[in-house]
Amino acid sequence: FLRQDLLGIKVAITAGPTREAIDPVRYISNHSSGKMGFAIAQAFADRGAEVTLISGPVNLAAPDKVNRINVVSARQMWQQSMKSAVENHIFIGCAAVADYRVAEVSEQKIKKTDDNDELTLNLIKNPDIIADVAHLTENRPFVVGFAAETQNVEQYAKDKLQRKNLDLICANDVVGGSVFGAEQNTLHLFWQNGEKVLPTDTKKALAKSLVQEIIELYRK
Ligand code: C5P
Repeated sequence: FLRQDLLGIKVAITAGPTREAIDPVRYISNHSSGKMGFAIAQAFADRGAEVTLISGPVNLAAPDKVNRINVVSARQMWQQSMKSAVENHIFIGCAAVADYRVAEVSEQKIKKTDDNDELTLNLIKNPDIIADVAHLTENRPFVVGFAAETQNVEQYAKDKLQRKNLDLICANDVVGGSVFGAEQNTLHLFWQNGEKVLPTDTKKALAKSLVQEIIELYRK
């Protein structure tokens, strides 16, 4: 039995990787599994919150009662996120959004040639979804971001909190353990006036604790 204490609370969550097309058969992407975002969606839904899960391509079933929106590219995720952000109380960016996309997607499959051993792809920056949501001036939700770092975890996380205008950032230290695809994780939370460590645990257990922390900060 789970307490339905978050009835009426609306939450949007981005999860998984994005895919940036190179040509009709190839893309650029990353190793995000979507597990953390899906676990957070489940934890909110279990407490009665209304959850929209904006997901890149992952091999996971959506949790029960969650409104899942499937996207492929960063720009598609940006569109769905900007639409959802103003309709929700809380926005959580768990997705590993590709920072760059191919400037000109080839309409035909790029062929390998005998006369050239090199191929250059021009990349251009994708929009920063969570920063755009957090800089909304009307109907801005409470915004929670993630930061996977390999060094200077605390400093980079705090920089991101400021620069992206977030209310809370959840840092995980990639060094020593694989975050991507792993079942376990450790989170170090930072907000304007505080910080807290959620010790190593399964992503499901961490998601539950994280939802509690988010709700307490949101209500303040
Ligand atoms: O700058 P960095 O990619 O490390 O920031 C990570 C945080 O920003 C995550 O919450 C991620 O979902 C979000 N992000 C985003 N759009 C991007 C890049 C990152 O929403 N283009």
